[in-house]
Amino acid sequence: MIQASNLQKRFGDLKALDGVNLDVHSGQIFGLIGPNGAGKTTLIRVLTGLLVPDSGRASISGFDVLKQEHDARMRLGYMPDFFGLYDKLTVREYLELFGELSGMSGKPLAESIEASLAAVRLKLKKDHFVDALSRGMTQRLALARTLIHDPDVFILDEPASGLDPAARLEFWDILRGLARRGKTVFISSHILKELEGLVTHVGLIERGRMLFSGSYEELVQAGATRRVRFRPVGNVPSERVVGLVTEGGGQLAGIPGDEYWEVEMDDDDEAVAALVNRLVSAGVGIALPPVAQDRLERAYLQLTGRDVS
Ligand SMILES: Nc1ncnc2c1ncn2[C@@H]1O[C@H](COP(=O)(O)OP(=O)(O)O)[C@@H](O)[C@H]1O
Ligand SMILES: [Mg+2]
Repeated sequence: MIQASNLQKRFGDLKALDGVNLDVHSGQIFGLIGPNGAGKTTLIRVLTGLLVPDSGRASISGFDVLKQEHDARMRLGYMPDFFGLYDKLTVREYLELFGELSGMSGKPLAESIEASLAAVRLKLKKDHFVDALSRGMTQRLALARTLIHDPDVFILDEPASGLDPAARLEFWDILRGLARRGKTVFISSHILKELEGLVTHVGLIERGRMLFSGSYEELVQAGATRRVRFRPVGNVPSERVVGLVTEGGGQLAGIPGDEYWEVEMDDDDEAVAALVNRLVSAGVGIALPPVAQDRLERAYLQLTGRDVS
């Protein structure tokens, strides 16, 4: 539903986008995460057809955002990172204005406004002035505006900024509802934690480059750690053993006492092997803890007289 290949965009010497690829499918909630200045808004402006990249291409629902601009736009709902001020309009007038700007009128527009307001839970506020809305309601109104022409793809630039936790959760709930109906949601944030529990897929962007793009599970796996337990045996002083552990990037979890030590490290066989090598080379004996389940199983098998082998 959203595709991009090798997008490049420079502002003078600055590479705002440096070879960005994307492939977002229907029903996904894709979180674009990166610090301020990473290139999130630039990428979004390219995807929405508002900014022409130096090279590369992008499409929405299979329509090239530049060559088939109209088709792409019709399938896209875009919520920018700022909210235009139309203080003297009521919620309904505000939506009428944007509906008319997108070429709708009469009954279809009126019905669409009702449906959009229901979807963002603002039905009761339709005759209120826009400037009387809370920040959370303002953001929901901005989302309602993108719903009017019933697009397939939603691109939202940092919609949670300035929302309190309750307002944010309500907003997430509305977005989840859209995804359940098969819509595609693309949302940016500079805070990974903020999107936890919402996104199904994640792209990590920094200095215009995608450092990671994949499912939320894959991301969690990529950052996974492993806990290794052992007891040093022999005469090497504890401080020296601590030094050997931390040298390889390991972190001691808990205080080394006469119980087993616990080291948190990358979930990677080679890192674990390197730790063992380092310890053994320094003359540290390594005693491993018994595996509780095996002992139970063996005891059970022995007690029941079954063959252990
Ligand atoms: N129109 C522009 N002219 C010059 N530099 C820009 C322009 N738009 C963005 N930039 C620069 O490109 C980089 C990425 O900006 P932006 O995409 O807005 O980042 P983000 O949305 O992740 O905070 C920043 O260094 C920003 O200053
Ligand atoms: Mg931005």
